Amino acid sequence: MKMIAIHHSNGGFHPRWIEYCKRNAIPFKLVDCFANDLISQLEGCHALMWHHSQNDPKALIAAKPILFAIEHAGIKVFPDFRTNWHFDDKLGQKYLLEALGVPMAPSWVFFNKQEALHWSEHTTYPKVFKLRGGAGSANVKLVKNRYQAAKLIKKAFGRGFPNYDKWESFRERFRKWKLGKTDFVDVLKGAARFAKSPDFARIAGRERGYVYFQEFMPNNDHDIRIIVIGDKAFAIKRMVRKNDFRASGSGNIRYEKANFREEWVKMAFQINEKIKAQSLALDYVFKDGKPLVVEISYGFAPEGYDSCVGYWDRNLNWYEGPIDPYGWMVDLAISHRNV
Ligand SMILES: Nc1ncnc2c1ncn2[C@@H]1O[C@H](COP(=O)(O)OP(=O)(O)O)[C@@H](O)[C@H]1O
Ligand SMILES: [Mg+2]
Repeated sequence: MKMIAIHHSNGGFHPRWIEYCKRNAIPFKLVDCFANDLISQLEGCHALMWHHSQNDPKALIAAKPILFAIEHAGIKVFPDFRTNWHFDDKLGQKYLLEALGVPMAPSWVFFNKQEALHWSEHTTYPKVFKLRGGAGSANVKLVKNRYQAAKLIKKAFGRGFPNYDKWESFRERFRKWKLGKTDFVDVLKGAARFAKSPDFARIAGRERGYVYFQEFMPNNDHDIRIIVIGDKAFAIKRMVRKNDFRASGSGNIRYEKANFREEWVKMAFQINEKIKAQSLALDYVFKDGKPLVVEISYGFAPEGYDSCVGYWDRNLNWYEGPIDPYGWMVDLAISHRNV
C-alpha cells in the first residue's frame, strides 16, 4: 500500500489522521512541511495531508504555495487546490459562489473609497461588515447606519484593520469565562494581548485597500453548518451569542438530527458537486426559510463535532452513531478517485 505523509503537529486533524492510519494499518510518515528539504522528505509518498489553520503564522506565509506546488507536481494533497485556494478568504469566496450560482447573502466589495462611500450613502441598513479572513465571528460586525459604514470605509482605505481585534477578543474571552466555557487564564491571556498582538496577526499585517459588506439577514437566532466530505455529510446548529447576531464561535451547539432538514443537506452536496472540494463546511443563514451561504471553509475545530450523532450519504440515507470525518479524509487521500 502507498505511503501517506502527514504534517507533524499535535493540533487540528493531525492526531486523528494518525490514529486512523494506525488503527487501519495504513502506512504513514510524519514530515515537517516547514522544512527546507520537504520535497526530499516526501520521496516515496503518494499523498501529503496538512491541516493548516488561519492562526498559525508560518502556515499563513507558506501553506497554500507549498501544497499547490506539491499538487502541481502530481502528488495528491489534502487539502487540494479546489478545497483550499479560497480558505480564509471571504473575498475569493464571494466571487466563487457568485460565479457558480450558489445562493448566498448578497455581498458588496469595493476597492475604491469614493465608490464605497457613494454606495454607503444610498444603500439600506443594517449591513454586515467582514474582513476577508478570520474565524469564530471575530472579524464580523453589524453596521447600523451610513455613519458607521463611512467610518469603516475610511479606515479600510486609511490605516486599515488589524487581523486581531484586541477588544473584541478580550470581550469574547470574558463572555466565555462568565458562561463557564473557558478558564480565567484565557481572560488573562486576552489582557496580555493588549501589550503584544499574536504572531499570526503581526505576520498577516493590516487589512486595507478593500471593504466588504453583506446584506444582513435578520431574525436568525442560529446558523447551520453542513460539512461535506466525499460522499458523506454531517451538521451542527450554532446558536447566536446573547444580544448578538453572530453564531460561529458562540460555543452553544445543537447536534440532534431534528435540527436539520434533508433539503439543506441535499443543497450542500449539490454545491460541492460544483466546488469539488475534499472537505467543505458551508455556513447557512436563512431568509424566508431558505438557506443562504455566508461562508465556506475546508477546516474546522474537531472538538466541536465530536458530539455529532450521525451522518448522511449522498442519497440522504442517515447513519446513526459516532462519526469519523478524519478517517474519511484519509480514505479520500488514499483513493484514486477524485472528488
Ligand atoms: N449576512 C449575514 N446576515 C446575518 N448573519 C450573518 C451574516 N453573515 C454572518 N452572519 C452571522 O455571523 C457569524 C459569523 O459570520 P461568518 O461569515 O461565518 O464569519 P466567521 O468566519 O467568523 O465564521 C455567522 O455564524 C452568522 O451567525
Ligand atoms: Mg463562519
